[in-house]
Amino acid sequence: MKIRLFHGILPLAGWLLLMSLGFGRGAGAYVLTSCNCHPSKTEKKFVHKPVADSECQKCHKPSGQNHPRVKKGAFVLTDNGNAGLCYECHAHKDNMKYVHGPIGSGDCRACHDEHQSDNRYQLKASGSKLCFMCHDKDSFDRKYPHPPIAEGNCTGCHEPHQSDVKFMLRGEGAKLCVLCHDKGMFAGKSVHGPVAKGDCNACHATHGTSNPRLLRKYFNREFYMPFSKDNFALCFGCHNNQIADDKLTDVETGFRNGLTNIHYIHVNKLDKGRSCKVCHDPHASSQMRLISAKIPDFGRWGIPIRYTKTDTGGTCVVGCHKPKSYDRNQAVFNP
Ligand code: HEC
Ligand code: HEC
Ligand code: HEC
Ligand code: HEC
Ligand code: HEC
Ligand code: HEC
Ligand code: HEC
Ligand code: HEC
Ligand code: HEC
Repeated sequence: MKIRLFHGILPLAGWLLLMSLGFGRGAGAYVLTSCNCHPSKTEKKFVHKPVADSECQKCHKPSGQNHPRVKKGAFVLTDNGNAGLCYECHAHKDNMKYVHGPIGSGDCRACHDEHQSDNRYQLKASGSKLCFMCHDKDSFDRKYPHPPIAEGNCTGCHEPHQSDVKFMLRGEGAKLCVLCHDKGMFAGKSVHGPVAKGDCNACHATHGTSNPRLLRKYFNREFYMPFSKDNFALCFGCHNNQIADDKLTDVETGFRNGLTNIHYIHVNKLDKGRSCKVCHDPHASSQMRLISAKIPDFGRWGIPIRYTKTDTGGTCVVGCHKPKSYDRNQAVFNP
């Protein structure tokens, strides 16, 4: 009986105490968090700083009416709680060249909870789940997705609010890619035309594709294969697909000894035709003509290639054969 009485009195006493602190007078410095009238705004993992600091009135500005007696209209939110409110304390997020849709329309709370959340930055969902609240998830379902997408890291590439780069990207062209990839892969004595222009997009689809390595067109990365142009669809999308067609030629390729087409010799075989990759790096190389310094993926160490170019031909020193030279004007005899 004593205990029940105690329980009955405590809330009443608490209420009287709050009143004496100015609660209900509209503009008093009371502590809403502890009035227990509202579900807690501070129980989740990440609480917005002014909420955690019980500065409810920095946002809920008293209108002068008597709260809690007046339930509706006792407080007002600047800009009805839209971006205008957030900008009272935060830097503008809508002053760059490309502004994300919901930010342009002032809807910060589409992604952030104004009080609290179990996700960092009081976000309404984590990782790509946030983005998929509005963007179609299925359109990211690729056979070979880019690993950061599979990991839900959309913001590895996109700013969530705004950027001076189209699509709110964190960098322009190849600058975006080298945020995560080694710059060294794309520099050297010879750099592939589109790579030099920063146009990674010419060959790779950044979100993913149905080809391995995010390639827009198929490229067979085996060392040996029966020759078919389809194996190098990517390369032949930009290059003359006749370079490996004819045994003899005087125009199709510079890789010839007199009239003997050396591309043909290496690539165009029924069983063990070689991949372009055996000789060329698709990005850049420390040697001329994108000739790789090592034959990749062949054995454990890779076989070194030393290539020297002349005005009319060149010489290759490779682990697989003796030094061999070619000359377009004066066929070289290689013993
Ligand atoms: C950063 C600004 C901000 C702060 C600080 C803030 N709120 Fe809010 N609050 C809002 C916004 C915005 C809304 C949404 C209004 C709407 O839905 O139209 C809201 C809604 C509410 C609501 C009604 C809906 C709901 O979520 O229950 C209550 C009650 C509330 N706040 C209580 C509080 C309390 C208590 C505090 C202090 C502990 C507080 N707020 C601090 C911005 C704030
Ligand atoms: C009364 C001032 C005030 C208002 C209004 C306000 N904020 Fe904040 N907000 C803060 C403070 C203070 C911090 C803590 C900053 C810090 O730690 O650097 C903060 C932090 C944040 C953070 C970062 C949290 C983190 O973990 O780093 C986000 C996101 C945020 N606010 C979003 C909003 C949004 C969205 C609105 C509008 C609905 C808003 N804020 C309105 C004061 C405010
Ligand atoms: C499309 C979802 C989305 C919207 C809408 C959005 N944000 Fe954010 N916001 C994020 C994400 C995601 C982060 C986490 C930062 C990161 O990953 O780089 C963030 C982080 C923040 C931060 C902390 C880091 C920083 O950039 O300062 C603040 C403050 C913030 N947002 C304020 C706002 C304000 C103000 C608005 C409205 C003008 C807004 N946000 C609208 C998604 C959003
Ligand atoms: C609240 C809904 C919403 C959320 C959440 C959201 N977006 Fe958006 N997003 C939009 C709208 C609306 C547009 C504009 C669409 C248009 O213009 O056709 C847009 C456009 C974009 C664009 C294209 C911009 C352009 O210039 O065409 C990118 C990129 C983008 N969002 C990325 C993201 C990422 C990354 C996330 C998660 C961090 C995300 N979005 C979360 C609504 C959202
Ligand atoms: C590795 C970097 C990278 C990641 C990670 C990434 N994007 Fe993109 N995104 C881009 C690039 C680059 C573009 C520009 C268009 C293009 O190249 O296809 C783009 C374009 C977009 C566009 C506008 C054009 C379109 O295709 O609709 C949207 C929306 C978008 N991304 C959303 C997302 C979402 C959502 C995620 C996470 C699931 C994400 N992006 C992850 C790099 C990335
Ligand atoms: C946020 C970090 C990040 C950014 C930015 C990024 N990537 Fe990646 N990318 C990765 C990770 C992680 C992997 C997997 C590990 C690896 O191969 O290094 C990967 C792998 C790849 C692969 C190999 C995929 C496979 O199937 O083996 C290609 C191709 C690629 N990225 C191209 C690009 C291009 C082009 C850009 C710029 C448009 C870019 N990446 C930007 C993180 C990133
Ligand atoms: C001319 C076409 C082309 C261009 C342009 C291009 N790539 Fe590639 N990239 C390829 C090919 C082909 C492969 C696959 C090589 C293989 O199978 O070993 C590849 C593979 C990759 C890989 C995976 C490497 C590995 O060893 O796993 C990354 C990362 C990559 N590219 C990033 C980029 C970036 C970043 C750019 C822009 C600076 C770029 N690529 C431009 C054709 C290209
Ligand atoms: C998007 C178009 C495009 C694709 C796809 C492409 N290339 Fe190229 N390639 C170029 C351009 C542009 C040049 C520079 C031409 C010039 O300088 O006259 C070039 C030049 C070359 C050169 C000569 C390099 C030099 O230093 O003179 C080689 C070798 C080469 N490409 C091999 C390949 C291989 C192998 C593939 C397939 C993996 C490929 N290319 C795919 C556009 C492309
Ligand atoms: C055995 C090594 C080797 C292989 C395999 C190889 N190339 Fe070459 N390629 C060369 C050499 C060496 C040159 C330089 C010729 C010159 O300018 O003297 C060259 C030049 C080129 C050029 C510049 C234009 C020309 O023909 O002179 C292109 C484009 C090219 N190769 C594409 C390819 C493609 C595509 C493949 C795969 C189908 C391929 N290469 C396979 C060694 C090779």
